[in-house]
Amino acid sequence: MKIIHAKDYADMSRKAANIISAQVILKPDCVLGLATGTTPIGAYHQLIDWYKKGDVDFSQVKTYNLDEYRGLTHEDPQSYHYFMNKEFFSGINIDLANTHVPDGANPDAEAACKAYDKMVADAGYPDLQLLGIGRNGHIGFNEPADAFSKGTHCVDLTESTIEANSRLFEKEEDVPRQAYTMGVQTIMNARMILMVANGKNKAQAVHDMCFGPVAPSCPASILQLHANCVVVADDEALSLCEGQY
Ligand code: F6R
Repeated sequence: MKIIHAKDYADMSRKAANIISAQVILKPDCVLGLATGTTPIGAYHQLIDWYKKGDVDFSQVKTYNLDEYRGLTHEDPQSYHYFMNKEFFSGINIDLANTHVPDGANPDAEAACKAYDKMVADAGYPDLQLLGIGRNGHIGFNEPADAFSKGTHCVDLTESTIEANSRLFEKEEDVPRQAYTMGVQTIMNARMILMVANGKNKAQAVHDMCFGPVAPSCPASILQLHANCVVVADDEALSLCEGQY
């Protein structure tokens, strides 16, 4: 695991965007695994800016998002599909046919997850997988559990995740209770992992991810076993890791 210290959110976002744009420049038809949430928004906006300046071209890139709420259609403003269009895809020259998010509108969880796994596998898995981390150490919607998950599957969200995500909804009751998410094994199949984290409320999770035991009680800890994992985190998120890297 390589840990890159960023001063603050803006610095973390620029550093992450630099790594993603280097990937796209080196391999214009690369596969990117993408994340939603508030952490990567700054990196997405930075990439839009560089695209507009002519520095990076997304016309051949394919993307696969980590997860989607079960029960929300692509058009639902709370869906992750909608989020990706709003925060990233609408600002760059990506072909929307090359962007993929699990189909939350498909009520047949098994079929939806199986189909998504096949799509990601057929694409050869991401060259670079961007991740955020939950305060409880989750990646994607892989919550603390007794075992690491494998392929894409349907999960019941934990109370802490529902509460954390409620800030993006009008009322906590509106937060969907289930989601389709890539499994830990699928995530680990990416050739490079780029984890971004900022803020004090991520400090414990970042510490446990980087220096705790590799255990499903902190799903992100498995990234210690990935051959090419880069963590870009700000001062506050790294505050419990001082002197350890
Ligand atoms: C999002 C995702 C989640 C988030 C995590 C952090 O697609 O899979 O694991 O990355 O919950 O969310 P933020 O960035 O909002 O703190």
